[in-house]
Amino acid sequence: MHHLLITNIGLLCGLEKQGQERSRFCGTEMASLHTIENAWLYMEDHKIHSFGKMEKMDFFSAENVYDAEGRVILPAWVDSHTHLVFASSREAEFVDRVKGMSYEEIARRGGGILNSAKKLNEISESELFDKSLERLHQVVAKGTGTIEIKSGYGLTLEAELKMLRVIRRLKETHLIPIKASFLAAHAYPLEFKENHEGYLNLIINQMIPQIVDDGLADYIDVFCEKGFFSVDETARLLDAGWKAGLKPKIHANQLHYSGGVQVGVKHNAISVDHLECVGEEEIAALKNSNTIPTLLPAAAFFLGINYQPARKMIDAGLPVCLATDYNPGSCPSGNVPLLLTIACTQLKMTPEEAINAVTINGAAALEMSHEVGSIAVGKKANLIVAGKIPSYQYIPYNFGNNPVERMLINGVFL
Ligand code: NIG
Ligand code: FE
Repeated sequence: MHHLLITNIGLLCGLEKQGQERSRFCGTEMASLHTIENAWLYMEDHKIHSFGKMEKMDFFSAENVYDAEGRVILPAWVDSHTHLVFASSREAEFVDRVKGMSYEEIARRGGGILNSAKKLNEISESELFDKSLERLHQVVAKGTGTIEIKSGYGLTLEAELKMLRVIRRLKETHLIPIKASFLAAHAYPLEFKENHEGYLNLIINQMIPQIVDDGLADYIDVFCEKGFFSVDETARLLDAGWKAGLKPKIHANQLHYSGGVQVGVKHNAISVDHLECVGEEEIAALKNSNTIPTLLPAAAFFLGINYQPARKMIDAGLPVCLATDYNPGSCPSGNVPLLLTIACTQLKMTPEEAINAVTINGAAALEMSHEVGSIAVGKKANLIVAGKIPSYQYIPYNFGNNPVERMLINGVFL
C-alpha cells in the first residue's frame, strides 16, 4: 500500500472536517476557505487519510515523508468545462477580432467552430491524441487535477467519435480523472445550414445511440444561442440525451438573453455554463434548482465581452462555479491561476470564493464532490504543492505566474 506523510505545511487550504463535508458551497458559504497553519497531511492508498496541526501530529509508519518546509498545499483545480481536444489554433481570427470583427460575424462567415471542424476532420486520430495529451500535461502543471473535455469540433458521426475516442485514450493514461461531454450540437455544419431537422435527426437517431453504446460520453452539451441552437432545439436534444442516459451540461446565455438558462434548469442540467447574459429571471430559475451556474470569465476576457454578474449570483445564494473553457476560439488557455485573477479583478469575487468555485463547486459540476474538490478524509489525494508563497491570496494576486511547484495525483508526486 502506498503511504505518504507531508510535514511542516505552512498552510493547508480547502479542507473539510470529517462528517461535515458538503457537495457544493452556496452563496455566503463560498466566502470562507478553511485552512490549518503549520499542518501535516497523511495519504494512504492514494487517498487522504488524515491531517492536523503539527503540534498534535500522530505517529505513522510512513515509508515516504516529505518535509514541505512551509509550503502552501491546496486541493487541485477541478476544471469542469474545456474543449481541450482540438486540431489547431485560430490566431488569424483573433487578429480579425482585434481589428473589430465580432465572434458572431466570424462564425457567420464559416470561421469559428466550423473552421475548427474542418481542421479536426483533416487531422489523424493519433496526431490529435498527441496534441491533446501535450495540452493536458500543460494544464496539470498549472494545477488542474480533474477535468471535463468536450467533443464538438467533429460535427459528423465519424469525427465526433474520433474526438470522443481521443478523450477516452486521455482517460486511459490515468494522468488525472476526466469526464467527457458529447457536443455535436455546437454549430450547424454547412450541409445542414438550411436543414436543421436533418442535423437534429442525425444527432438524435444516430450519434447519441452509437456514443452511448460505445460508452464514450458522460454528458450531453448544446450551444444554446442565437445563430446556433434555439431553445426548442436544445429542449429536444436534452430530452433525447436524458432518455439515452446522458445528463445535460450546456452552453447558455453567452451572447444573448436566450432562454438557455431556463431550458437547462427545466431539463435538470447538471450545470449551465458561460452566463455572461444573466438577469433576475435567470437567477430566479437557478435558485429553484440543483443546476450549477458555471462562469467562464476567461472567455469573456478574451472576447472582450461583458463579464458574468458573479456578485449578484453569490448574493442570491447560488453555488457559483468557475471553469476555463479552454478552446481555440474564445479561450485559448487552460490556465486556472489566471482565471482566478480575472474572477477577482473583473467579477469581484474574493480569492476564497474564486478558489471554492474552481475546487469544490467544480467537483459538484462534474458530480465528483465525493472524490475530489477539497481536502477531506477519503477523497483522492489530488493536490497542489505551491511554492513558498506567503498566502493563498498571493495566487490570484501574482497574476501571470504559475504558483504550482509540484502536483500530487493520487497521493503520488508527478
Ligand atoms: O464555449 N461558445 C461555444 N463554444 C466555445 C467556443 C468554441 C469555439 O469558438 O471554437 C465556447 O466559448
Ligand atoms: Fe465552451
